Amino acid sequence: MNTSRDNFGSRFGVLVALTGSAVGLGNLWRFPYLMGENGGAAFIIIYLIFVFVLCLPIMYSEFVLGRRSQTNVFGAFKVLAPGSKWSIVGLFGVLASISILAFYCVVGGWSIEYLVKALCFDFTRQGTVNYETMFSDFVSSPVKPVVYHVIFLVMTAAICLGGVKKGIEKFAKIMMPLLFVMVIIIAIRSLTLEGASAGISYMFKPDFSKINSGTLLAALGQAFFSLSLGCGTIMTYGSYVSKDENIMKCSVITSFSDTLFAIIAGCAIMPAVFAFGISPSEGPGLVFITLPRIFAQLPLGGIIAILFFLTLLLAAVTSSISLLEVVVTYLLEEFKIKRKTAVFLTFFLILILGTLCSLSQGVLSDIKLFGMTFFDFFDYVSSNILMPVGGLLIVLFVGWRLGKANLFDELTNSGKLKVPQWLLEITFFIIRFLAPVTIAVIMIF
Ligand code: PHE
Repeated sequence: MNTSRDNFGSRFGVLVALTGSAVGLGNLWRFPYLMGENGGAAFIIIYLIFVFVLCLPIMYSEFVLGRRSQTNVFGAFKVLAPGSKWSIVGLFGVLASISILAFYCVVGGWSIEYLVKALCFDFTRQGTVNYETMFSDFVSSPVKPVVYHVIFLVMTAAICLGGVKKGIEKFAKIMMPLLFVMVIIIAIRSLTLEGASAGISYMFKPDFSKINSGTLLAALGQAFFSLSLGCGTIMTYGSYVSKDENIMKCSVITSFSDTLFAIIAGCAIMPAVFAFGISPSEGPGLVFITLPRIFAQLPLGGIIAILFFLTLLLAAVTSSISLLEVVVTYLLEEFKIKRKTAVFLTFFLILILGTLCSLSQGVLSDIKLFGMTFFDFFDYVSSNILMPVGGLLIVLFVGWRLGKANLFDELTNSGKLKVPQWLLEITFFIIRFLAPVTIAVIMIF
């Protein structure tokens, strides 16, 4: 084991850092609106199948590659398949992380603005406010969202500067339990509203006629995004995990916590949406346009609004640090530079790309890449291309190149852990055949 590398200090530290990466805007912002657009319960069921059948083995794969190689996403393939072209897969991971960060930090910045608004009780003050104009005026302005995006990026970089144990792990240990408590409080408030039951039946009574190929792609893309798969974060965090840790157990707990958080977030949002007679398929604006409208009418809405946007912000930070860490570890180890330099370089790169994404909501909205604004381009390319293709290549690598013996060796800690043979065999089957075929088929259609 490479002892000069920073590592996580405890199992709890590993779990909160992984869950911190997984729980983020994906759970609070993306999951509820995708569920709203794709028919509620039916979407949730498909999502659950993808998470636990397909994505869990992919998470094992990434974890195995990281821990076995004890190095960054790019270096991992050089260590595990020397002299081959596989390290290109690692570059995919670095690119995916950069492209997610570009728009993620912008939305992170929006959550700061909304937290500030909540702290000033802007949503609950008397008088009629048009939340749609409030949102569109804000995101399209050339200064404020850019400044907030920089603040968000500074927070992210500052934590990464502290390193793995003293930065990432320490932050996640405090934040993750807090996040769960906050989202549960909001859910209780929402579930006890008069008329909440319509939202609950929307979430838990499936209507399978709503399912089509678009639903499948949306559910798969969301599973990848929410579990932080296909872009090297699990690999990078995995490389900081000790050889005694149980990879399967950690992955199951992470996937379970992430899914639980998404469902609780749904329970925090959907019952309120229905109770106030708003359409659940409001799209990406759900969190920033619909919710403030609800907070305005909700008893204790002012406090709930503060809690909600604080949760959104902190959840986003624990995720963005895991993305930044992929790029930082890559620069640090492949170019033999100091952590500080690596963090600064990544910071400036994202600063430029993020500014372009932010401005593309307003002054730069006419500049199009393949017909999309900068913001939509980075969102589209990362969720629909780089992450699924990255995931596909990773399972192909593990299933066909690393091979069964090495996979089982790593999953059982060289035989020290008793894992039933049938479970290992099924896992291998999914990694070798089922996952690559399903991802490829869904992407093609
Ligand atoms: N999983 C995070 C979320 O749900 C986003 C993310 C994607 C983080 C990929 C790291 C890697 O918001």
